[in-house]
Parts: sequence; structure tokens; C-alpha cells
Amino acid sequence: MTKVLVAFDTKYGNTKLVAETIVEGMREVEGMEVTISNMKEIDLKKIINYDVILMGSPNHMGGPTRTAKKFIDKLGKLTLNKLVAVFDTYMHKDFDKAVKKMEEKINDKAPGLKIVTHGLSIRVEGMKGPIAEEEFPKCREFGKQVATQIKS
Ligand SMILES: Cc1cc2nc3c(=O)[nH]c(=O)nc-3n(C[C@H](O)[C@H](O)[C@H](O)COP(=O)(O)O)c2cc1C
Repeated sequence: MTKVLVAFDTKYGNTKLVAETIVEGMREVEGMEVTISNMKEIDLKKIINYDVILMGSPNHMGGPTRTAKKFIDKLGKLTLNKLVAVFDTYMHKDFDKAVKKMEEKINDKAPGLKIVTHGLSIRVEGMKGPIAEEEFPKCREFGKQVATQIKS
């Protein structure tokens, strides 16, 4: 079994819903043992148990939240060798911005973490959501794609 942790930060629940939909996609692939958790509730001592970590953040002011940045910093300090992928939620025109910043931070602060594929950026229709309807299939597909990639 490949052990996967899907960690999210959220203010209004949309990024959590993206995380849950990614998990659905991952579970379509055999051999995945997936755990989902709010970043704020993760016991870092247990991170060692996972082979792969997915992390997601809402876009706040053009980048990931403080919680998400701190999470990456903490992973960096643990000097782990793991596979990772990221995702964000955004409004308007900020597609991919928080994803790119998380990926840059991972490469900079946590070089033991190898990004398996470029991250997923999901549009919400307002500050509090909802997630734009056409975005849901992308979440499921991303989960499936990452799961297939980490298996091979
Ligand atoms: C303090 C704050 C700053 C935000 N700044 C941006 C921004 O710069 N660009 C953007 O696209 N969305 C921005 N948003 C909208 C969030 O991306 C949106 O609330 C989020 O995707 C919803 O996810 P959540 O339900 O998981 O919190 C901001 C939201 C908050 C609360």
C-alpha cells in the first residue's frame, strides 16, 4: 500500500472540499491508503509514516496562507524524502499563483520533497465559495493522476 496524506488549510471550507474530491479520485486507484487532515491538526511526528504528501491552501493575498507556508517550513526542518503535490483555491484571475509559490517554497526550503506533478488550481466564485461547478471533475482527475503516477 502507498500511504498518502492529503493536508489542507481552509477558512470557509472550499479547500477542504477540493481535498475531499482529490481523495475520491485517488481512491479509484488500487493500493492507495489515503488520510485527509486539516494542516493545523497534523502531528508532525506521524509525517514519517507517509510516502506521499499532498498539500492545499486557499489563495490569500496572492499566495498560500501563513499556515500553509509554516507547514512547508516545518516539513523542511524534518529533512524528509517524500513525494509531494500541491493545490490551491483562488478567485478571479489568480489562477495558479498560490500553487507556484508553494512549489517554489518546497524547492527552496524542503529540497527532500520531490514534486510529482505541477499543482492543481481551483476557482471559487466568491470569497466564501462555492467552487465553480466545472472545477469538480478536475479535482477527481488530479487525484487519480497523482495516484497513478506515484504507483509507477
Ligand atoms: C484574507 C483573504 C485574502 C484573499 N486574497 C485573495 C487573492 O489575493 N486572490 C484570490 O484569488 N483570492 C483571494 N481570496 C479568496 C480566497 O482565495 C477564497 O476565499 C478561498 O479560495 C476560499 O477557500 P476556503 O473556503 O478554503 O477558505 C482571499 C480570501 C481571504 C479571506
